[in-house]
Amino acid sequence: MNNDIKILSIESSCDETAAAVTLNGREVLSNIIYSQITLHEEYGGVVPEIASRKHIEKINQVIDRALKESGHTLRDMDAIAVTYGPGLVGALLVGVSAAKALAFATGIPLIGVHHIEGHICANYIENKELEPPFVCLVASGGHSHLVVVKDHGEFELIGRTRDDAAGEAFDKVARAIGLGYPGGPKIDKAAREGDPDAIDFPRAKVDGSEYDFSFSGLKSAVLNYLNQAAMKGEQIVTADVAASFQKAVVNVLTEHSIHAVKEYGYKKFAIAGGVAANSSLRDELDKRCREEGIEFYRPSPIYCTDNAAMIGTAAYYEYLKGTRSGYDLNAVPALELGKR
Ligand code: KG4
Ligand code: ZN
Repeated sequence: MNNDIKILSIESSCDETAAAVTLNGREVLSNIIYSQITLHEEYGGVVPEIASRKHIEKINQVIDRALKESGHTLRDMDAIAVTYGPGLVGALLVGVSAAKALAFATGIPLIGVHHIEGHICANYIENKELEPPFVCLVASGGHSHLVVVKDHGEFELIGRTRDDAAGEAFDKVARAIGLGYPGGPKIDKAAREGDPDAIDFPRAKVDGSEYDFSFSGLKSAVLNYLNQAAMKGEQIVTADVAASFQKAVVNVLTEHSIHAVKEYGYKKFAIAGGVAANSSLRDELDKRCREEGIEFYRPSPIYCTDNAAMIGTAAYYEYLKGTRSGYDLNAVPALELGKR
């Protein structure tokens, strides 16, 4: 008897059309990502209507390729998993509809997955020994969460952003300094040539919660700096602004995270989401975790930004728990972590 569990997973919550096949949760047999970045670049951000239309155009091709590269057929799958929230409603609906159609036609069980749960589970792919409990910082375009992962599928949200998400701040600042979309990777690159101590941008503290984040004040400080330079007719050094802004974000994310890991008494800490691909954040957290004797886990950059393999990993643990979705599964744009 073969107890291997193969899952076809689909992700279309934002601007990546992705499908993957995973084996027993942690082995990636295929991971296909069609990125729409070039389409959205000229608008300076994701245009939801364009994203939905492109997902519709690409989704079947991406699923076919994921199955082909995995060496398996649809009928070999034990479950079909799909991100059903949070995300852009029109974008999510494309993946959800595709997954429901495949599940209905084959009778294979359907599992709706929370996008952030997927990001967290990306850590399991390359760290076969990692098991909960641990603390995870999820920093993406839409979220900045500090989460205690108590068990598979069991989370305690201990900190969140009060305004902009970290990735959103990267994207907005990048646009303001003329680097374009997506801001994160562009600031990461530009910052390598800049002086992180050139400008002293504020590190926002949030009243009443030591683990919550706020990035809108920092964003305004960068905009004020740019306006003042323009009024004085001074040239700004883009790389210095990028490096100083990045340092401020990295500093806050790092200090809140280390504080949480220590206060909650855990020994393991992981990062997830697009911003977790940031080279400076990875280096800084690695350094601080070493100093504090904390085991630090980070997915390879390809598993930090949106992908379907992470959805397959999350779905595996849901599958083992008996989670199944009905054919009435709907997109839930503001789905909360840990809720179904
Ligand atoms: O997780 P993700 O792919 O999509 C969401 O779920 O939002 O995250 C995308 C975000 C964008 O804001 C992007 O600018 C940011 O992650 N990002 C980065 C880096 N790569 C992507 N931010 C900082 N440094 C990077 N290297
Ligand atoms: Zn994401």
